[in-house]
Amino acid sequence: MHYFERMKIKDVLQIENPMQDMIILGWVRTKRVSKNIAFLEVNDGSTLQNLQVVLSPDEFSLLDEVTIGVAIKAIGDLVKSQGGGQKWEIQVKELSIEGSCPGDYPIQKKRHSLEYLREIAHLRPRTNNFAVINRFRSKVSFAIHQFFQSKGFYYIHSPLITGNDGEGAGETFTVTTLDSQLLGEKKIDYTEDFFGTHTFLAVTGQLEGEVLASALGDVYTFGPTFRAEKSNTYRHLAEFWMIEPEMAFCNLRENMRVMEEFIKYLCGYALNHCQEEMEFFDKWIDSGRIQILESIVNSSFGVVTYTDAVTILQKSGAEFAYPIVWGMDLKSEHERYLTESYFQKPMLVINYPKEIKPFYARLNEDGKTVAAVDLLVPQVGEIIGGSQREERYEMLEERMQESSLDFEELYWYLDLRRWGSVTHSGFGLGFERMLMYLSGMKNIRDVIAFPRTPGNAKF
Ligand code: 4AD
Ligand code: MG
Repeated sequence: MHYFERMKIKDVLQIENPMQDMIILGWVRTKRVSKNIAFLEVNDGSTLQNLQVVLSPDEFSLLDEVTIGVAIKAIGDLVKSQGGGQKWEIQVKELSIEGSCPGDYPIQKKRHSLEYLREIAHLRPRTNNFAVINRFRSKVSFAIHQFFQSKGFYYIHSPLITGNDGEGAGETFTVTTLDSQLLGEKKIDYTEDFFGTHTFLAVTGQLEGEVLASALGDVYTFGPTFRAEKSNTYRHLAEFWMIEPEMAFCNLRENMRVMEEFIKYLCGYALNHCQEEMEFFDKWIDSGRIQILESIVNSSFGVVTYTDAVTILQKSGAEFAYPIVWGMDLKSEHERYLTESYFQKPMLVINYPKEIKPFYARLNEDGKTVAAVDLLVPQVGEIIGGSQREERYEMLEERMQESSLDFEELYWYLDLRRWGSVTHSGFGLGFERMLMYLSGMKNIRDVIAFPRTPGNAKF
């Protein structure tokens, strides 16, 4: 036992020998009653497994109040289960109700549709599916730290409120204390605002990551990022979590090696340390998921240039809603064709036209493409975007000019190239997209507890 008198069900199920007078707290999932005996399946959130709680007629007085979802406290003895299906059960000596749960409780059935559950985001974590996802998020988060910490990377915290649009895509949320309603027709004067300048919620932690990498060598962020993209798709959120390693003395190829090792590590971690969750996904969400992850761990990612990828798409004979031409950004349909149909494995696409990648990506010798890389995986498409960064002062200045960026705002970013500038690279992994890939969940709204999408920030 730990700090509390009661024991978590996850720990109860690990016990080797019978035990007397245990205290169990949890929520009732099912109830079966016959004349001389009643069985409750109780779950306390610590694991997918329920604990069987057995009541003799002496304890039947409360039975009417024991409805689905009710929170109970049971004191009793842990004994070998008579029936099949579970090793242990609790023979109750004392039962009490912690919180009643009237019949209008919306989660009654064993399986509700994901769409229905999105409407009750405050209750869906109590279903098996979402409890599994939320426990899985926690475990994979831990694995992310473990991967980078074991490689000597330092975990840094980039600001969430910032004066720059790091990706230059204009998809920012403004942070203000000014009441724009009161200003009426007047243009907002941000010098009057809290920070004295126009500030945003960060779309990336990368630029600040480069500041810290220029001091500590290898660093990573893992935090929320915000994008006001009006993309209502299966793979876009307005608030998502991103892992952004940034490495000094690292070129594009080395960057790609870290990416591949990182993704394989997370697949291996899920298989070896999240068996309960992976078995659930394989059974209920996406049959064959375990095998897919196993094959990833043992295979090599492919590499293709953007230019070759465009040629492949043009020759494919496939019908795309957006026919591809050189210079265009790859759409999800193109990404999926390449990784799912053509190469049938995770693909690193490199050397994109400079016009479709942010200003910080390093210009290649051809003067047309940049040392950027996206990792595409089947079903999800792009899960990583990264690049070698432009470390040459004049080149960066030129790229900033081309992208009409404000030099005064980003002077500190240019300064990094003025004093002790080095070859450096990094990438960003979308955490929710990685969770989709690991679990086989089809909609990004179902791998985060409180999804923020256009028109939806209710919970
Ligand atoms: O490709 P992106 O925009 O790259 C960056 O932000 C760089 N600063 C990363 C870096 O080099 N440090 O975003 C990185 C990843 C994408 O590949 C995708 O997985 C995820 O972040 N992502 C989103 N995930 C959910 N919803 C959105 N709206 C997303 N936008 C990007
Ligand atoms: Mg990208």
